[in-house]
Amino acid sequence: MKSIKVGMLGLGTVGTGVVRIVEGHQEDLQRKIGAPVEISKIVVRDKTKRRNIALDDAKLTEDPYEVIRDPEIDVIIEVMGGIDATKGYLLEALEHGKQVVTANKDLMALHGAEIMSFASEKGCDVLYEASVAGGIPILRTIVEGFSSDRITKMMGIVNGTTNFILTKMSQEGASYSEVLKEAQQLGYAEQDPTSDVEGLDAAYKMTILGTLGFQTGVSMEDVSVSGISGVTKEDIDYGKRLGYEVKLLGIAERQDDFISLSVQPTMVKKSHPLASVHGVFNAVYVYGEAVGETMFYGPGAGEMPTATSVVADLVAVSKNLQLGISGKAGFSPYRTKKLKTDDQ
Ligand code: NAP
Ligand code: HSE
Repeated sequence: MKSIKVGMLGLGTVGTGVVRIVEGHQEDLQRKIGAPVEISKIVVRDKTKRRNIALDDAKLTEDPYEVIRDPEIDVIIEVMGGIDATKGYLLEALEHGKQVVTANKDLMALHGAEIMSFASEKGCDVLYEASVAGGIPILRTIVEGFSSDRITKMMGIVNGTTNFILTKMSQEGASYSEVLKEAQQLGYAEQDPTSDVEGLDAAYKMTILGTLGFQTGVSMEDVSVSGISGVTKEDIDYGKRLGYEVKLLGIAERQDDFISLSVQPTMVKKSHPLASVHGVFNAVYVYGEAVGETMFYGPGAGEMPTATSVVADLVAVSKNLQLGISGKAGFSPYRTKKLKTDDQ
């Protein structure tokens, strides 16, 4: 039986988890896909770096083109991060007919429409479940689970690092900079954690949620963003005395042809379920006209939760490959209808 050959871009926090799951769940994955899956090449920045996973050094390369141009490789998993160069690698991978899985919210929020449109031309799938809310399968849920409904609002905690920081500041009186360092050591934060603490990471995610949930072209400029770097222990303590927790909330709302999107630190009443979302956990409320209010909760960052979403996408694109329906059955939700935003 011919195996599905995977080339990975990146072997950091998420990439390591992907290798662990693909190796550890091989029998299950093979049964679900109908073929064995093999990670055959992995691109890293530095081949000599010590890794906390045992693997055949011959699989590692520092040359992305050796992987994306390899005719043997069926699927590219991008867990490297970055925007411009990475976009170039993925477009070239699609040009070579590869299926693509990515965890890169920056890239999909900024260039998702172009990437999806090129993928569709080439008859390829691009899936990116891990880009929003780590281990919560929220993208599939809003695209497929809500396909019968009309989403009017999505609201929640979509950044694990800032929720981890705010929780530790609130519960342990820890200092902002100490906890940020801890979040970096645990692999929750972005390579440049400014993106987390200034709310950009959450804004990228709200852009993706808005695009998929409202089936429209939402862009980063549509999101009004404010992060947590200015939140002090005094703010948190003051809120607590009044019965509130400070949370970084993302909100995307639609009324007729008008949408508004924001990310901002918010006082959340202690009795509200979002006030009890602690640590690296995320939670997303989705309101549908027919269903009413629903809530999705789970780990929002970190090695294994994020890798779970990446490998679920790998299973989906591999199944499509086996069935010969790549580019036809995956969710390709970028539509062009532009709704009005606050700026217009
Ligand atoms: P990471 O730990 O920093 O790992 C990045 C990996 O990519 C490393 O293996 C690095 O190589 C490699 N790399 C980076 N730049 C490269 C380049 N120019 N050429 C070749 N290799 C390069 O990052 P991560 O936390 O796994 O995150 C990866 C992606 O997943 C990002 O887009 C992030 O936003 C997204 N994501 C992360 C999480 C999370 O919880 N961490 C959750 C959801 C989504 P070396 O190992 O040699 O340095
Ligand atoms: N830095 C991100 C976070 C990773 O903390 O939520 C998951 O997307």
